Amino acid sequence: MRTLIVRTSEPLRGVARVPGDKSISHRAALLGGMARGESVVRGFLWADDCLRTLAALALLGVEIQQYGETLVVRSPGYPGWEAPAQVVDCGNSGTTMRLLLGALAGRPFVATLDGDESLRQRPMDRVAVPLAMMGAQITGQGSACQPPVTIVGCPHLQPLTYSLPVASAQVKSALLLAGLQAAGTSVIMEPAPSRDHTERMLAAFGVPVRVQGRRLCVTGPACLQPAEVQVPGDLSAAAFLIAAALLVPSSEVTVEEVGLNPTRTGFLDVVAAMGAQLHWQVQEASSGEPVGTVTATSSRLRGVRVGGELIPRAIDELPLVAVLATQAEGETVVEEAQELRKKESDRLAAMAAGLRAMGAAVTERPDGWLIRGPTPLRGARLHARLDHRVAMALAVAGLIAEGETVIEGAQVVATSFPSFATCLAQLGAAVKAA
Ligand code: S3P
Repeated sequence: MRTLIVRTSEPLRGVARVPGDKSISHRAALLGGMARGESVVRGFLWADDCLRTLAALALLGVEIQQYGETLVVRSPGYPGWEAPAQVVDCGNSGTTMRLLLGALAGRPFVATLDGDESLRQRPMDRVAVPLAMMGAQITGQGSACQPPVTIVGCPHLQPLTYSLPVASAQVKSALLLAGLQAAGTSVIMEPAPSRDHTERMLAAFGVPVRVQGRRLCVTGPACLQPAEVQVPGDLSAAAFLIAAALLVPSSEVTVEEVGLNPTRTGFLDVVAAMGAQLHWQVQEASSGEPVGTVTATSSRLRGVRVGGELIPRAIDELPLVAVLATQAEGETVVEEAQELRKKESDRLAAMAAGLRAMGAAVTERPDGWLIRGPTPLRGARLHARLDHRVAMALAVAGLIAEGETVIEGAQVVATSFPSFATCLAQLGAAVKAA
C-alpha cells in the first residue's frame, strides 16, 4: 500500500476493535527482554514500530517467538545481553530508540542505533544528556544529537536526580530503565504528567517505582522477573475511528477493549469540551491498565482552547483535534504544543499545510494552531511526510471533503495501525488502500 484514497463518506456505523497499544507493546517487549526467563505478551501490536523493538532485542541475544498473535520473549536478563553485532535499525520508532538507550546505558558494551529519514531528524539529546550524567556516553549528529547515535554503556551507572525540561514519557522511561541498573535511588521529576505505562508495567516485572505526584523514585540495581502482559487496544488508533464518527453525519461507532489510562485520555476530554456526543466507560483493569469502551456519535462541535497539562495527555491525537476544529463553530486554539514539531514529522507544519490545501482556515503558530470553523473541505492530493499520524488524520479529513483525497506515502501507516483502512471501511467509510 502506497496511497490511501478517500472519498466523501456514507455514515459510519458499527462496533470495532483496534490493534494493541503501541506504547504498551514496546514496553512489554522491552521489559520482557530485560527480565530473566520467559515473558508472554498477548494483544501485542504487530506493526513496524514494535517489530523494530523486537529486532533490536534479538540483536542483544533475546529470543523472540510468535505463537499466533501471542509474543513470547525469552531472555538471559539484561545483565546477560550481548553487544549487537550490527547497527540497530530503529526504523521510524522514536520509542524504540529512546527506551533502548536507557536500557543500554548500564551495559558494558558499545552499540550504534540508527533510523529512517524521519528518525534521523529527531533529537536524542533529551536522553543523551541525563544518561551522560549517570555515566553513559552517547554521541550523535548535529546540535541535538540526532541518529545515528553510538552509546558506550557504563557498568557502574550513578543514580540520577533530574527534572525533565519537557513532559516526555520516552525520556522518563529511558531514565527509569537506566535508574534500575544504577546502585542507589534515582529521582525523576516531570513538569506535567505524561503516559505512565512504564511505571505501571515495571511493578508487574517486580521493580516498584515509587510515585509521589510528579516525582518518581526507582532503586537499583534491580533484576526484573518475567511477567505475562495483556495489551489493551490502542486509544491513539481508536481516536481515528472516533473522530471519523464525530465528523461524518449520522454516524455511530463503538470501540471496545480499548486502553483508557487517564494519562492518555486527553483527546476524549478535548472532544467532550467541543460538545461531542461521546460515552466512555472503564470496564476492567488488565495488566494494571484500565480498559473499556468508547461510543462516538456524529456531533455539532464548537471551538475550544487546548493547552497546559492536556497537551501531553492528548499529544498524539492533536492532529485529529486540528481536523475536528475545521468543522467546529468558532475558534480553536491549540497552544503550548511545540513538542509536535519534534514528532515523526513537524506535525504543526504538516497538518496546517494539509488542512489548508483542503480549504481549512488554519494559522500555524510557533506553539500550535489557530483554526476557524466551520469550513467546507475539498479533496486534495497530500503527502504523509513519513508520519503515520499525519497520513491517518488527513485521511479522516478526506471523509468529509468534497471529491477525492489522495494521501501519498501512506505505507507509513504500517508503523502503528496496519489495518487502518480496513477498519474504517468495515464501518462503512469510503477509504481504499492502493
Ligand atoms: C510515547 C511517548 C510520547 C508519544 C509517542 C509515544 C511513548 O512521546 O508522543 O508517540 O511510548 O512513550 P514523548 O515521550 O516524546 O512525549
